[in-house]
Amino acid sequence: MLHHDHLEQWDRENFFHPSTHLAQFARGEVPQRIVTGGKGCHILDREGNRLLDAFSGLYCVNVGYGRKEIAEAIAEQAHKLAYYHAYVGHGTEASITLAKMILHRAPDHMSKVYFGLGGSDANETNIKLVWYYNNVLGRPEKKKIISRWRGYHGSGLMTGSLTGLELFHKKFDLPLAQVIHTEAPYYFRRENLALSEEEFVAHCAAQLDALIEREGADTIAAFIGEPALGTGGLVPPAAGYWQAIQAVLDKHDILLIADEVVTGFGRLGSMFGSEHYGIKPDIITIAKGLTSAYAPLSGSIVSDEVWKVLEQGTDEFGPIGHGWTYSAHPIGAAAGVANLELIDQLKLVDNAREVGAYFKKALTDAVGSHANVGEVRGEGLLCAVEFVKDKTNRVYFDQSDTIGPKVNAALLKRQIISRAMPQGDIIGFAPPFCLTREEADEIAGKLKEAVTEVLG
Ligand SMILES: Cc1ncc(COP(=O)(O)O)c(C=O)c1O
Repeated sequence: MLHHDHLEQWDRENFFHPSTHLAQFARGEVPQRIVTGGKGCHILDREGNRLLDAFSGLYCVNVGYGRKEIAEAIAEQAHKLAYYHAYVGHGTEASITLAKMILHRAPDHMSKVYFGLGGSDANETNIKLVWYYNNVLGRPEKKKIISRWRGYHGSGLMTGSLTGLELFHKKFDLPLAQVIHTEAPYYFRRENLALSEEEFVAHCAAQLDALIEREGADTIAAFIGEPALGTGGLVPPAAGYWQAIQAVLDKHDILLIADEVVTGFGRLGSMFGSEHYGIKPDIITIAKGLTSAYAPLSGSIVSDEVWKVLEQGTDEFGPIGHGWTYSAHPIGAAAGVANLELIDQLKLVDNAREVGAYFKKALTDAVGSHANVGEVRGEGLLCAVEFVKDKTNRVYFDQSDTIGPKVNAALLKRQIISRAMPQGDIIGFAPPFCLTREEADEIAGKLKEAVTEVLG
């Protein structure tokens, strides 16, 4: 296809892309893709490619591309009132309605929603709320936050610190001192292969308990975790993990933040991961699936108990000194209302559960017995295939072998978008909830071809 403009060149010359090898991109050594449209599970680019997006953008376009209902709700809101702020008691029909709809879906003990723009800023809000909470309660020393290695919570200063992936710390002087990390609930990568799942769960809980004892429970404010690990490897927790962790946190009076930026609104085949795994969080982070990324919007859902302390704080110290210009932006809120309605109407959470189970089986049938496939795992429409050099002894490939990126590229050649997860040789899949069984079969079939091409 011929282009009569300079977009590709301008892109290389002017655009600072996130999470990109900047020098290689500027030199033209890595490909660029200019995306022009999308429908259902597919996107279109300027070269005329039609790709099956098996990662929903960044696991966010949960209802799929090209939904007129959401586009129209956004347009209508923009025509009527594109913006008004939410400070000192202001709101819009969309933002108030959306808060009500979220709480209707959230666990019963949750009380209020604070709206931000993305997952990172929502988690920044959460940490500030937790600090404020402990200051109001007269516990100024209780401030450290425990996160997990391989957790992902954003890439701001605090949230980049909470994230437990090396790439996000390296050369950024992170993590900040208030953040400490504990073991990830990643059974496949357990150090001691002899441990059963149950023993591994007990080990994770014991590690956490020992860390808290070492640091002093009176210095630790909160624990943050994704119900199922996301960017760190797409790993559903071993059975009983959350019950064991929650018992340790309760014992030491430590708040629990469930980061549901990926799992919220249906990804695991349940409305929330907290519901899916029986977690009782004090704060829930939401973003991505709240609007299916049709407009930027995130939220912090706080529990009754936290809310009471926040009210007490403002009675004692005055209005809460926290807010963004774009908190509860009406266009994001309108997108959120239309998105949640669509998820209900089309029963997309049920589809995520049912087609998710079918998809996981299709992936397992396609590549599960390959000598270099260590594990096929998943829950709902969040699945991963992890590669190893030697399956019996669970020996990993060298990072320099770049097996993950190679399989990813081989899939892309076949018009399938997956994601090579940043740490380990892990290919991730998180397709839109409208995925059909035929599309699931197509991804699995092409994965088999791609794996054969790269690994024989
Ligand atoms: C679990 C989780 N939390 C937070 C974030 C950060 O969200 P954002 O990129 O919108 O800042 C992400 C992004 O992928 C995420 O997966």
